[in-house]
Amino acid sequence: MNEYNKAAIEVALQTEKMGQSLYFYPETDTTNDRIRELALEGSSEGTLAVAEMQTAGRGRMGRAWQAPKDSGIWMSLLLRPDIPPMQASVLTLLTGIAIAEAVEEVTDVEVGIKWPNDILLNGKKLVGILTEMDCDMEKIYSVTVGMGINVNTKAFPEDLQDIATSLYLETGREFDRAVIVGCVMKRFEALYAEFLAAGGVFAPFKERYRRKCLNIGKEVRVIGRETYLAMALDITPEGELIVRRKDNGAEEVVFSGEVSIREKE
Ligand code: BTN
Repeated sequence: MNEYNKAAIEVALQTEKMGQSLYFYPETDTTNDRIRELALEGSSEGTLAVAEMQTAGRGRMGRAWQAPKDSGIWMSLLLRPDIPPMQASVLTLLTGIAIAEAVEEVTDVEVGIKWPNDILLNGKKLVGILTEMDCDMEKIYSVTVGMGINVNTKAFPEDLQDIATSLYLETGREFDRAVIVGCVMKRFEALYAEFLAAGGVFAPFKERYRRKCLNIGKEVRVIGRETYLAMALDITPEGELIVRRKDNGAEEVVFSGEVSIREKE
């Protein structure tokens, strides 16, 4: 197995800012909390916390995230964008694009994005992103973008076997995690610079996101305050999902939450 430590990641990083201030933890509870602390201490944008294993990995919707050693990339990135807090969810979509493109570049394996930000390989979850923010009504103080990529995982607990996968399980090959970290940081750095230059809007990235989006043209179950079946039609310039409800034919825009893809019966 390739070396995976601070030095190995430093060698793989070809960025100006993202990951240049790097913290590597052989074990921590969750890298999102490490970044939050570093943010409160005044650390600069681009600070990256990487863990070999997490003992209390967090997922979206209050779920746990399995992050054992010698298997995946568990890392969190500190951002301090000067954009309205309402626009911050776009950062998760951009991270999805960066990771999907980086994984494809390094592994030659084609992945897709399940709106808003799960990356799937052969129908199972390969990557999860958890974005947390410290802000008031007008200003963002820090954003923590937590990324979990199942790289060399050999097996998942029984309850996850049908829904989660790793690059190893799908290809039979092990990959160098440091190289993937380097590639994700490089791609994210470019996307983020473009995003800020465009005034913090998603529209310039819509087509790039859409190309990778698995939901469009598929039936989805929208899970939110109300749960219903719908056809996913498109992505708005703001990054939301446009759907047509099955029950009453109405078009709706889904802002956040979760959808599950259903193959058409
Ligand atoms: C999801 O539920 O899909 C999001 C999972 C996010 C997991 C990553 S691993 C690194 C960072 N630290 C955490 O505790 N969670 C995120």
